[in-house]
Amino acid sequence: MDKRERVERFEKMGLGLFVHFGLFSLLGKGEWYLSRPDADREAYAALPSRFRVRRDWAKNLVRTAQEAGAKYITLTTRHHDGFSLFDTLGLNDFDAPHSACGRDLVAEFVQACREGGILPFFYHTLLDWREPSYRTDFPAYLDYLNRSVEILCTRYGKIGGLWFDGMWDKPGENWQEDRLYGTIRKYQPDAVIINNTGLDARGKAGHPELDGVTFERGTPALGQKTADLAGEMCQVLNDHWGYAAADCNYKSVGELIRNLIDCRGAGCNFLLNTGPRGNGLVNPTDRCLLREFGKWVRRNAEAVYGVRPCPAKAENAVLLEGEKALYAVVREVPVSGDPNVVLGEKESRVILDPALRIRRARWLDSGEKIEVTDNSFAVRPFDYGTSLCARVARLEV
Ligand code: GLC
Repeated sequence: MDKRERVERFEKMGLGLFVHFGLFSLLGKGEWYLSRPDADREAYAALPSRFRVRRDWAKNLVRTAQEAGAKYITLTTRHHDGFSLFDTLGLNDFDAPHSACGRDLVAEFVQACREGGILPFFYHTLLDWREPSYRTDFPAYLDYLNRSVEILCTRYGKIGGLWFDGMWDKPGENWQEDRLYGTIRKYQPDAVIINNTGLDARGKAGHPELDGVTFERGTPALGQKTADLAGEMCQVLNDHWGYAAADCNYKSVGELIRNLIDCRGAGCNFLLNTGPRGNGLVNPTDRCLLREFGKWVRRNAEAVYGVRPCPAKAENAVLLEGEKALYAVVREVPVSGDPNVVLGEKESRVILDPALRIRRARWLDSGEKIEVTDNSFAVRPFDYGTSLCARVARLEV
């Protein structure tokens, strides 16, 4: 596969599940716990003895991804705390096989993905709070990093890609990116390589070997990335990536659906996160949100996967182009009903580019025919009692 093919295959998938899982999941205070000034570092170093991960954790994850409509999962194989979910083959003992669970969790993850028809991606940290060489001997650290990545590329069969994060921590260093990406290309020529640019540099392109740009918690707009690169927005369900027990600041399913629509409208993928608990299981609130989100995705699947932004435009809708049809996605459809119970939302209209010739149109969620007159059509509010929040009109041209 060349770059174009890799990018196209990735873009077609459209939607992924991000999974932040590691020792930090046991504490329920997010994945940055160890960097806090009040962090108990000794207690953290002893956490592996408490890391008992359920045998069915990976199946549970894959099931969650399927329910959400995700085609791939990006799992934190090693996060900033330096703990590896995979067998580091003796690079150090700070890995899952040396923890209470005593298993290679990346192997279990990949197997469950294969069984469930989900493409596995590996998140790997670049910055490392634990490995001493990261601070004292950078070339030695790069050896360690490259060897770790080599393990990930050679022991788990074909993977979807690698997702790096943390270069922003040492912007002035020579990270020897040629070497890092070269290792991946050698063993996994079809793998997509992404390197998260972080909150400050969303959408910024980097090394030529990279296949995409990232929009961490920021909605991409059309034209923010070049056509030869994939784009991906990652998003949290609440305010944390790793499990945070006290965080109840959840987004609404509607907001997440609008994130997805905006990503697709900008030619980007949407990578929606969950932080499982210490036993590896997705917490019930996350599961419920992802399931509800997935219901919308399934109803409108045609307009989620395999679509790209349409060069023609529409007023009041995001216009996407698929293999067989165009899709006018109405981001927000209000609810109407008795004036004593709703705010009295009115019908709105989608106005399509006059150059388009529409032969037939129908709503994807109900199959109901849409009357198109003068290249425009009405969007009636949902009746009180039946909101689907956003709708997709399928347009045959
Ligand atoms: C940030 C954080 C990290 C998280 C990532 C996800 O870079 O350092 O904790 O994994 O964002 O995009």
